[in-house]
Amino acid sequence: MKRLSRRDFLMGSLGGIAIVSGFSGIVIPEQVSAAKYPWGYKKLDPDKVAEMAYENFFKGYCCYAVSSAIILSLQKEIGEPYTLLPVDAFKFGHGGVIGWGTICGTLLGAGLATSFAAGKEGEEILNDVMNWYSNTELPIYMPRVAKSSIKNRSKSNSPLCHVSVNKWMTKEGVPFKSAQRKERCARLAADVAKKTVSLLNQWVDGKFEMQNDSQVALYSTTTQHNCTDCHGSKVPSPPK
Ligand code: HEC
Repeated sequence: MKRLSRRDFLMGSLGGIAIVSGFSGIVIPEQVSAAKYPWGYKKLDPDKVAEMAYENFFKGYCCYAVSSAIILSLQKEIGEPYTLLPVDAFKFGHGGVIGWGTICGTLLGAGLATSFAAGKEGEEILNDVMNWYSNTELPIYMPRVAKSSIKNRSKSNSPLCHVSVNKWMTKEGVPFKSAQRKERCARLAADVAKKTVSLLNQWVDGKFEMQNDSQVALYSTTTQHNCTDCHGSKVPSPPK
């Protein structure tokens, strides 16, 4: 993986790879091919990607919304191998993976994009996105033309679809199948896509530094932060 300055790129140090004009940051593996992972990244406009995620939610839900907004944008900007990816393959993440309420599909979608774009370094980006998701009152995004209106934001304290969506539904007083719940998840997909692209943009400029430690480093096991939500006051300690 090679991080390029604008100058390197314009100097054509990458013989064989198309020169794109007007870019401000780009990372491409030295030889781009479907077999060589990761596939690289070119700076995207976070607001445009957010808008696309909002719209795409209504075509394939949360995981599809975030992954397709970023990957289809990279298909345009970079071409192959991104153009080889059938983004419909990522629809399965809806409802925390086919309705099981595990990881929020927007985060799974973000993880697919950060992984293709940045490989192992993408894990650090995703770690910060998951922390931010858990600690932020969402959704923030306001569509130019909303499909429904909603009143509330909520903080999940958790990256789990089940916790996140049910807390919000209870606050808003609407059922899962309502237009308002879909609107909320669509706006949240826009927020996650925007955050992910903002961090990828920092990363491609060499300015990204993970703000949060890894979960296993913090807790000596795989987990989320909100132990007491599930365990009450008696949180068991994992064997060390
Ligand atoms: C989303 C809910 C949830 C969260 C958040 C969570 N746990 Fe758990 N955890 C469980 C469930 C369910 C079990 C299964 C055992 C049980 O019913 O207590 C479990 C089991 C465990 C066990 C195995 C011991 C036992 O009593 O079975 C440990 C240790 C543990 N959790 C520690 C933690 C710590 C530490 C945190 C926070 C850093 C945490 N958990 C966060 C739900 C959760």
